[in-house]
Amino acid sequence: MKTGFYLFFADKRFHSMARRELVRAIGRFKEYKKYSSDSFLAASTSSNSRSILSIPGKSIFINAVVPVIGAFPNLRSVDRKIIRCIESNLDKKATFKVEVLHINSGMGESAKTTEVRIGQAIEKHGFVADLASPDTMFYAVFLAGNVLVCRLGNVAPALDAFRRFNNIKGKVSRAEYKLVEAIEHFKVNTSEIKSALDIGAAPGGWTKVISKMGVHVTAIDSAKLDRSLLSSKMVTHIRKKASSVNLGAKRFDMLLVDTNTDPETSANVAIKFSRNLVKGAPLVLTIKLVGGSIRRHIRTVHGILKKDYSSIKLKKLQHNRMEITCFALKR
Ligand SMILES: C[S@@+](CC[C@H](N)C(=O)[O-])C[C@H]1O[C@@H](n2cnc3c(N)ncnc32)[C@H](O)[C@@H]1O
Repeated sequence: MKTGFYLFFADKRFHSMARRELVRAIGRFKEYKKYSSDSFLAASTSSNSRSILSIPGKSIFINAVVPVIGAFPNLRSVDRKIIRCIESNLDKKATFKVEVLHINSGMGESAKTTEVRIGQAIEKHGFVADLASPDTMFYAVFLAGNVLVCRLGNVAPALDAFRRFNNIKGKVSRAEYKLVEAIEHFKVNTSEIKSALDIGAAPGGWTKVISKMGVHVTAIDSAKLDRSLLSSKMVTHIRKKASSVNLGAKRFDMLLVDTNTDPETSANVAIKFSRNLVKGAPLVLTIKLVGGSIRRHIRTVHGILKKDYSSIKLKKLQHNRMEITCFALKR
């Protein structure tokens, strides 16, 4: 039976949950601890590659799956083996880009420097690099004296995510990345949203992201919003706790809940304000996974939300720390 070797990207804190999801999705697999890191599990499986590549779309804790085309033990430098491995998986007519990740590599140079060295060595053999929109992307992971080479199509998950988000200028809070990522991941159609309710809004990262899209935001939090939001005509701040707010018959097109409360309390906030939502309105809710069993938290939130919401989906986004993000639609 043919086996494939893959990196399953998942946050270290959730590796046991990711393993459980893998067993459910593909049955048995062989894990290679030597090639695993805090951000991915390295494993081989005989499952077909189609079902493996579809895992991130269905799972909560696995963010990306990357096929490994070469695993080189006891290698600490940019060796011919790496160059040959990439070239043998690259069409002469296709442009390429190599992205490097150092994990305890001990190589004493930056990932950028290694990327340039590999790229230049390949270009010498007549291949063409294109850093903006390559046809084929490769990852070279230098991991504590071992090297993994991975081949992707023209999009790069996982490794690229933080680099991209770190470029957001003038951010109000780190939390805004979470909402940007949630909107992308859950494919929220924001073009039809005119008004949103943001509970647990301070200092205002989510409020900023949504109001910049031309949405009027009612932000509820007893804490202060960032000064940059105070003069915005697109933002109304109700400086109270959610429990003491009554919005009467007002209706909103979207509900955001990012209160730093336990999962049950956060889910109940979404229930309290569901009567203020139009049918089909999207909900984005953060579930803090502190204390207790993760599976129990997930079951509790699901049990509470299903009364007023459908299409409930969960994802551990790259920018979630000890939390996951929930998406649902108002019934
Ligand atoms: C993680 S912060 C929210 C960050 C925010 N989403 C952003 O993008 O800047 C959590 C916020 O929830 C607020 N909060 C906690 N419990 C609340 C409640 N019952 N009602 C309203 N806000 C609450 C806190 O005051 C705090 O400002």
